[in-house]
Amino acid sequence: MCLLSKGSRQYERRKWRTLTDAGKMMRPFDVLFDLAEGKVNLLGNRTVRRYSDVKHIFHEIDPKLERENPIIYEVFEAPIAEKEGDLMFLITLLYPGRVKNEFFMTKGHYHVFENTAEVYLGLKGKGLVLCQTRNGDFESHEICPNKVVYIPPYWAHRAVNTSSELLVFFGVYPAHAGHDYKSVEAEGFKKRVFFENDKICIR
Ligand SMILES: [Fe+2]
Repeated sequence: MCLLSKGSRQYERRKWRTLTDAGKMMRPFDVLFDLAEGKVNLLGNRTVRRYSDVKHIFHEIDPKLERENPIIYEVFEAPIAEKEGDLMFLITLLYPGRVKNEFFMTKGHYHVFENTAEVYLGLKGKGLVLCQTRNGDFESHEICPNKVVYIPPYWAHRAVNTSSELLVFFGVYPAHAGHDYKSVEAEGFKKRVFFENDKICIR
């Protein structure tokens, strides 16, 4: 018999699988995020985006990053079924850094079901959430600890780390929303965020 220590990643995975088994009514549950040293060790699915995965979203190529291929961001997503009625939640860790002078950022996406909103809650660090509609409306909102950014339906969204430390935020949205990255790849965002003349510049 294999005993899994309580709190270990394997233990949590098994516990969550039990909670979300298809055909069973979910039980309420709680999760503790250990944000010390940027650890998020209790969630189900981890997506890692390295420079090579996202370099096409930046304005320029950075030869140093080509060689080092650092992690730009990681997403820890709750193992919740992507179906209407549920809420998906996640923690994003967006590392500090720049591609030449453009700040590290997430790919950005619309929701496949565009009439679905999302809430971000800043937990650590400081950055911006860029929001854009298909008809060209654009807004940027600061994200930092204790600040909520509400992203209404129909707005694409992308996070940018404008600080020199890890940016960590919690996100929650209807679990069936889906991610449309292709539209953002095709259209791009109207504005980018650079570090120029010792200032954060959105242009
Ligand atoms: Fe989203």
